[in-house]
Amino acid sequence: MLHLILLLSLSFQSQMPSILSTTFTLTNNCAQTIWPGILANAGSTPPASTGFALNPSTSRSIVTPAPWSGRFWARTLCSTDQSGRFTCASGDCGSGTVECSGGGAAPPTTLAEFTLAGGDGTMDFYDVSLVDGYNIAMLVEPNGSSASACAVTGCVAELNGACPVELKVGAGIACKSACEAFGTDEYCCNGVYGNPNACKPTVYSEFFKRACPRAYSYAYDDATSTFTCSSADSYVITFCPGLTTRVKSEGRESSGIRPLINDSMVFLGVRTSSAVAKDVTGMVIVGFGYLLVWVCYDR
Ligand SMILES: *[C@@H]1O[C@H](CO)[C@@H](O)[C@H](O)[C@H]1NC(C)=O
Ligand SMILES: *[C@@H]1O[C@H](CO)[C@@H](O)[C@H](O)[C@H]1NC(C)=O
Repeated sequence: MLHLILLLSLSFQSQMPSILSTTFTLTNNCAQTIWPGILANAGSTPPASTGFALNPSTSRSIVTPAPWSGRFWARTLCSTDQSGRFTCASGDCGSGTVECSGGGAAPPTTLAEFTLAGGDGTMDFYDVSLVDGYNIAMLVEPNGSSASACAVTGCVAELNGACPVELKVGAGIACKSACEAFGTDEYCCNGVYGNPNACKPTVYSEFFKRACPRAYSYAYDDATSTFTCSSADSYVITFCPGLTTRVKSEGRESSGIRPLINDSMVFLGVRTSSAVAKDVTGMVIVGFGYLLVWVCYDR
């Protein structure tokens, strides 16, 4: 009997999903090289690499233990100077090297934040945050055989060009939060504004929220910006997701959550020339179809 129980429990264990680690697949869909950075929160073990170069159209997997909490972001426009110091125009982590080694992202930077197996130990919490500003479009997709019920989140719009001039960094390499740009308690949710009843959306947070309805736009934006998943084996983080997003998020749009993409926005921006070319080709084919129908039935 004991043997049977042992056997049963062994086979049961082998069928349990591995909850001791989580894999993140980082994909660079941008036209340029990016340098992802990873910061484990205090008390969490850093992954084997905390920063690396990621060429266009390539992916790299990062394994973290679970429970784990930390964040992922992209550094852009990086270079090594004559003294050998590595720096980036956005998302720099201050380490002077490609590895961030415990350094966090200098704002403004789009952040993907995770708390794995947090709370009661079965739930993952994840969000994409623009509270520290924006430097790149990001998409987070829970992945795994039963993860299809878990919402995709992210900020898919290209906001560097559309950024209000008072928040813009340089010619448009990133877009500051109002807190960083103006430093007031009202924008930073500090002082008398340090609670959700007092700190409300502003015209600046609403700029981010309209473009990216599922992303955090200010510190107390939790209700529409934090997502949970209890069944993901891995998470796919895509930088510059572009138009592929629309297809990928199909079928996951459970009611009661905001759309991932605001269809009424004109500055989704992610339309690459090849995507436009595909659209034009599609329109030509549809137009030709109509013509055929018209020619065949109208006679
Ligand atoms: C998604 O999950 C499946 C298994 O459930 C795995 O085979 C696949 O490699 C994962 N994809 C990515 C991009 O991590
Ligand atoms: C989408 O954008 C329009 C125009 O800026 C705005 O009025 C609307 O509230 C946005 N929708 C969402 C879901 O944020």
